[in-house]
Amino acid sequence: MSNKEWNPQSWRQKVALQQPIYNDLEFLKSVEVQLSKYPPLVFAGEAQCLKNHLAKVSRGDAFLLQGGDCAESFSDFNAIRIRDLFKVILQMAVVLTYAGACPIVKVGRLAGQFAKPRSSDTETIDGITLPSYRGDIINDIQFTKEAREADPSRILQAYNQSAATLNLIRAFAQGGLADLNQVQKWNLDFVSGASSDRYKEMADKITQALAFMEACGINSSNTPILHETEFFTSHEALLLNYEEALTRKDHLSGKWYDCSAHMLWIGERTRNLEGAHLEFLRGVENPVGVKIGPNATKEDILGICDILNPKNEAGRLNFIIRMGANTIKDKLPKLLQSIKEEGREIVWSIDPMHGNTIKASSGYKTRTFDSILEEVKSFFEIHKSVGTYAGGVHLEMTGEDVTECIGGMQAITEENLGCNYNTQCDPRLNASQAIEMSFLIADVLKNRKI
Ligand code: PEP
Ligand code: CO
Repeated sequence: MSNKEWNPQSWRQKVALQQPIYNDLEFLKSVEVQLSKYPPLVFAGEAQCLKNHLAKVSRGDAFLLQGGDCAESFSDFNAIRIRDLFKVILQMAVVLTYAGACPIVKVGRLAGQFAKPRSSDTETIDGITLPSYRGDIINDIQFTKEAREADPSRILQAYNQSAATLNLIRAFAQGGLADLNQVQKWNLDFVSGASSDRYKEMADKITQALAFMEACGINSSNTPILHETEFFTSHEALLLNYEEALTRKDHLSGKWYDCSAHMLWIGERTRNLEGAHLEFLRGVENPVGVKIGPNATKEDILGICDILNPKNEAGRLNFIIRMGANTIKDKLPKLLQSIKEEGREIVWSIDPMHGNTIKASSGYKTRTFDSILEEVKSFFEIHKSVGTYAGGVHLEMTGEDVTECIGGMQAITEENLGCNYNTQCDPRLNASQAIEMSFLIADVLKNRKI
């Protein structure tokens, strides 16, 4: 199919995996019509700006930090959670900028991260089989027949929650919270121990540097870059009805943008070349990501490049590697080499979460801090040996003090997982683990030059 034949509905001619079954199609249609009249959440110019930043990432002149919940939820929606996640991302970004000596592009997994792919369409508990939970935009996590029914009105609730989240994020980014002079105050009260001490030490040095700059006449009032930050949003473009309804033609450029987020990605389970998800995203101009798991072949990834980035534009296509600490060393080098030989423009990032999920004996889904770190380090080493840039990290994390991943200096054990295991879906790094991870990534980032 050539680009001419694309339109926001053309995905409907293809097979769309991982979609819910809606019983009331008329109701679904009315929700889609309503949503298509609602204001866009982001603007074309912002998505374009992120694309330009990502082009720098692909050249090794910046580093991408993408993170947030595995799944946002309706019940856990409040300003404190958003603020604390924002603060931790700011902290990680300042650590990476300072200790890693590299500009950081900040992208949240938030304001739209509601739809989840599942390994099975159904779930069975005590002999009762119901449809799987597919994220709050689709159904409810409670294990009852009513709760698990796909409900179109949830699409509007997800839009409203995304709009409110984005509104707060924009206020935080521009209203003073992100001012570098606040660097000491980004640390959350419950974060203590060695990485918190290391953070405070670094924050002191930044504060001293700012005092020196102030004495030279450079301050937040005359230098906006010290006072505000750029923060972008992203989510998995899984529920295509939602994405289609928020896709608009930019009146300045005449091009289509998916205005539900600055960046969208396609998951490991929906990246088939013939599928609806690639068809949908090929026609919008946003930067797009694709998760790449251990079974991806050279043909798969070159096919994705042809479909999603036929003009080989820098900053357009992000491959998010998620192979697992044990597999990445075997699988990634050859793939990287073949893409390099073909001269394709790619932003390479690592999701060290989804290939390292294990089940603890207590039954909790978890990940170890060590395997997460190991996959990140291998990712950097492999890029260095092939002569390409390790461009970013993609993490599931929260600003809360949860106990979902094992290890780190906080030494969360298998036995502790139950203390504060809150995730709606996959286990996330908590604030302390995320900051600790950022110092460790900064150490490898510093030596990234190829
Ligand atoms: C996710 O990012 O939450 C996810 C489901 O990832 P993947 O598609 O890589 O499994
Ligand atoms: Co996840």
